[in-house]
Amino acid sequence: MKAIVTGGAGFIGSNFLQMVCGTYPEDSWICLDALTYAGTTASLASLANCRNFRFVKGDITDRAFVHELFASEAPDVVIHFAAETHVDRSLIDPFVFERTNVGGTITLLEEARIAGVQRFHQISTDEVYGDLPLERPDLFFTESSPLRPSSPYSASKASADLFVHAYGRSHGLPVTISRCSNNFGPWSFPEKLIPLTAIRALSNKSIPIYGTGLNTRDWLFVSDHCRAIDCIVRHGTPGEIYNVCSGRDRSNLEVVGEILDLLHKPRSLITLVADRPGHDKRYAMSAEKLSKTLGWEPQVPFEEGLRATLRWYVQNRAWWEPLLKGEFREYFASHYSDSEGFDL
Ligand code: NAD
Ligand code: TYD
Repeated sequence: MKAIVTGGAGFIGSNFLQMVCGTYPEDSWICLDALTYAGTTASLASLANCRNFRFVKGDITDRAFVHELFASEAPDVVIHFAAETHVDRSLIDPFVFERTNVGGTITLLEEARIAGVQRFHQISTDEVYGDLPLERPDLFFTESSPLRPSSPYSASKASADLFVHAYGRSHGLPVTISRCSNNFGPWSFPEKLIPLTAIRALSNKSIPIYGTGLNTRDWLFVSDHCRAIDCIVRHGTPGEIYNVCSGRDRSNLEVVGEILDLLHKPRSLITLVADRPGHDKRYAMSAEKLSKTLGWEPQVPFEEGLRATLRWYVQNRAWWEPLLKGEFREYFASHYSDSEGFDL
């Protein structure tokens, strides 16, 4: 099998490639990534000498380039991770989310159709379903829940999912979609809650928590998500959507508190700041379909994954420290500018 993996220099894509290149040495893996602020080949350094892996720098919105790549490589499978992924940034510049997440996905679908790929797998998110009320812990989303995205990010992912579905219906493209909850683990860009908390706590810097800190997320360790994707690509049924999650949501205060405890840092570092506009309250799904039909179950308990993640950030300053110097410095300064004491 030959697979083109878009966005493979980002957080989840790089974890996925590190897993599959070793597990399936007989398959060929091509990473297509534009190396935006969120992507770095440093996350793929361990694959530099792998004979079944190749990195191609390119933009999924560049139709001529994607056409040429698909024509020359004739991939069997496209696994589509590439996206703009940060909700807060989508509130500042929605246009790049529309361009990459919607336009880029359509470009890939069209070229996948022309190239006759055997599977197009769309990596999506639970955020397309919108949120649930905090006072109803009994509720959760299933694959047939309506799409009610609340942020420009989730709206762009929901649109992309609809195009993926439409290509399955209209053109018979063998598509699958997975919708996963929040991921955590190594190689996650420091703009997201868990790595941001870890690196700031390591420098004894205050941790910005939006609003009350009571909003909840279902955190899944990244290797569990990667196994689910691999399982769906190999054994999933074309046309189907699969939710992926741990089945347990935690408040942001709970998660940040646990990180501070594990790093032996005081909880007084927690600083409540202005809420994110439209902040989704609670994300919760059922992954019963994936479990019942394909036998997938999460394997890494939250506490174990969190310890492994924190150990990784402690031991891999050489990966994340350079990221704090570039574009992220400007983003951070402007995004957290209203809050006292928030320097990088
Ligand atoms: P990320 O932001 O860490 O990485 C995104 C990658 O896409 C980067 O390497 C970037 O360079 C690349 N990219 C962006 N625009 C591109 C373009 N125009 N052309 C080519 N490459 C481009 O993202 P992530 O957290 O690894 O998320 C990967 C996918 O998983 C996304 O589709 C996201 O919506 C989805 N997802 C993420 C989470 C999460 O918690 N991180 C949860 C559920 C679903
Ligand atoms: P994030 O990691 O951005 O993922 P998402 O918004 O896609 O769920 O945020 C996770 C939760 O943490 C979310 O409820 C917003 C909150 N959060 C903060 O409280 N402070 C921060 O500085 C960030 C980045 C997130």
